[in-house]
Amino acid sequence: MNPSRRPLIVGNWKMHHGGPSGVELAADVARHARDVPRVDVVVAPPYTALAACAHECDGSHVEIAAQNLSPEPSGAFTGEISATMLLEAGCRWVIVGHSERRQLFGETDAIVARKVAAALKAGLLPIACVGETLEEREGGRTTAVVERQVRAFLGALAESDRDAAIAYEPVWAIGTGKTAGPAEAQEVHAAIRAWLAESSAGLAPRTRILYGGSVKPDNARALLAERDVDGALVGGASLDRVSFGSIIASAESLAAA
Ligand code: PGA
Repeated sequence: MNPSRRPLIVGNWKMHHGGPSGVELAADVARHARDVPRVDVVVAPPYTALAACAHECDGSHVEIAAQNLSPEPSGAFTGEISATMLLEAGCRWVIVGHSERRQLFGETDAIVARKVAAALKAGLLPIACVGETLEEREGGRTTAVVERQVRAFLGALAESDRDAAIAYEPVWAIGTGKTAGPAEAQEVHAAIRAWLAESSAGLAPRTRILYGGSVKPDNARALLAERDVDGALVGGASLDRVSFGSIIASAESLAAA
């Protein structure tokens, strides 16, 4: 964590809590967030709960993210949701290129880049996800893979003056209970920041780089303490109000120190 950037903690609910239970969870997070004035808190419910959760969090400092968007602005794209529609539903953020989208739904670097650009153009802040698979890590290709993924959307970030975020999520750490060690995470985060700096001077200091992959109450503090780790993208632990509350409390106490 670096005092020049506010920590950002994002709960990715994936395909859970799309109805009334989501609204209840959002209300709990909004209550917890009252005690963490130094932390930006975002929840990413499924599409069906976005508007209701946004309504529930109105007046709190919890903001809403969608988990995906269409790269197209409008038109005959049955089943797709545009950036403008997400803004209308009350979103400020959108997760783009999550590894599940890349692996299960065929999203390529080029598609991710188009989605990042579409979000920024409409005024929605992207949380662009990158990360290597276990095979890539074991083959010594972590830096090359993450660099390729980041460079794909770097131009879109550099062209915009909006505050986007990048989430580094090693694929082998998502939902597995394994995490990159804090030093391993820091190494990749520092490399990402260096690529941002090369691309545009203002981009590196303002872009928050989140770590994701089995972030839990017992490992959050050590990860967030690293210099270039500006927050966390939390999956499983964000579904439980106590665990998520504990992770945002860790960020608050580090920011207050
Ligand atoms: P996890 O998921 O915290 O359950 O590993 C993280 C993510 O997929 O964003």
